[in-house]
Amino acid sequence: ITPLPFQSVTGRKAFTEADLWGSDAHVLHVGLGHSADLLVIAPCTANTLSKLAHGLADNLLTVTALAAQCPILIAPAMDVGIYSNPATQENVRLLSERKVYFAGPVEGRMASGLTGLGRLVEPAELLGNIRLVLGRAGPLAGRKVVVTAGGTEEPLDPVRVLTNRSSGKQGYAITQAAIDAGATAVLVTAPTCLMPPVGARVIEVHTAQEMLESVLQECPQADALVMAAAVADFRPKRAAQNKLKRRDGIPTIELEAAPDILQAVLKLGTQRPRLVTGFAAESQDLLENAGAKLESKKLDLLVANDISTSDAGFGVDTNRVTILTANAPAESLPLLNKTEVAEILIARIAARLENP
Ligand code: C5P
Repeated sequence: ITPLPFQSVTGRKAFTEADLWGSDAHVLHVGLGHSADLLVIAPCTANTLSKLAHGLADNLLTVTALAAQCPILIAPAMDVGIYSNPATQENVRLLSERKVYFAGPVEGRMASGLTGLGRLVEPAELLGNIRLVLGRAGPLAGRKVVVTAGGTEEPLDPVRVLTNRSSGKQGYAITQAAIDAGATAVLVTAPTCLMPPVGARVIEVHTAQEMLESVLQECPQADALVMAAAVADFRPKRAAQNKLKRRDGIPTIELEAAPDILQAVLKLGTQRPRLVTGFAAESQDLLENAGAKLESKKLDLLVANDISTSDAGFGVDTNRVTILTANAPAESLPLLNKTEVAEILIARIAARLENP
């Protein structure tokens, strides 16, 4: 690959070995690393890894790394045998001890045709690792945030479930925003089609009962809980042991109440996270219903979303929400994508943890 594609895509100069000996060399050999927030080396070969571990500085990259004041993130890419070689492993250990961060490598097929540990991480995972490192000193550093996401699934029989139209997008975006702000994030998620954010501790659940148990377990050490999941309000009273057959006629399904997670969290008393945020999806009288929910569930924050329009709420990438708090005016946000909603919510949570 020539420098040109990088320059075309970024609109910035791509530096090469030639620059190290050019007219700006005296600045460049230390300057590139100085102005950076993060130095990412992707892909990183075993040879470069070894040079970095031993402080060699014989090319522009290794000089830059040695002079860098910022954190370094390495994404190794090499053949399985090279990566597992004790020399390479020792170099990885040495660098990790010096607080150099690693993304991957991952298992997979390599250029040699072999399969094993040594493949470069996928771009999305690399980006997730970059966000994780850059977020470390954010406003939620040292805080634990628990987020629930997705629609719970309540079994009717071994193959069928009662669920709801939640994609999990909003909850996953909140988890990512919490990580970007430096939080230790725990994502308690019902099944979704989404990739969890890099750095989140993920607890996979299916039913409201399982979500309840995980949330209660995580609450005592949490600073904030964000209940973005669409939790079942009702569940089948009995799940059939075997698949319900058409030939047996149309079954009658009796429902019972599913556990109310926010109610249970309320009862935790002193073990309750300092800030509890609920969601309310409303199709009518948004503010009235949401205000009542804030009060009855004793929430610190309530995100009310209007699901009466097709561009907000379930499945889509955008949301139109109002953030309610107990003793402040409601904050109505315009139509935003779910990432933006998540970032605003996390900023409000960080501010309230800072100044209760
Ligand atoms: O009353 P409603 O179901 O609209 O309340 C929604 C809020 O309550 C959401 O934050 C949701 O995660 C939470 N919830 C819960 N337990 C349930 C149902 C909803 O914690 N069984």
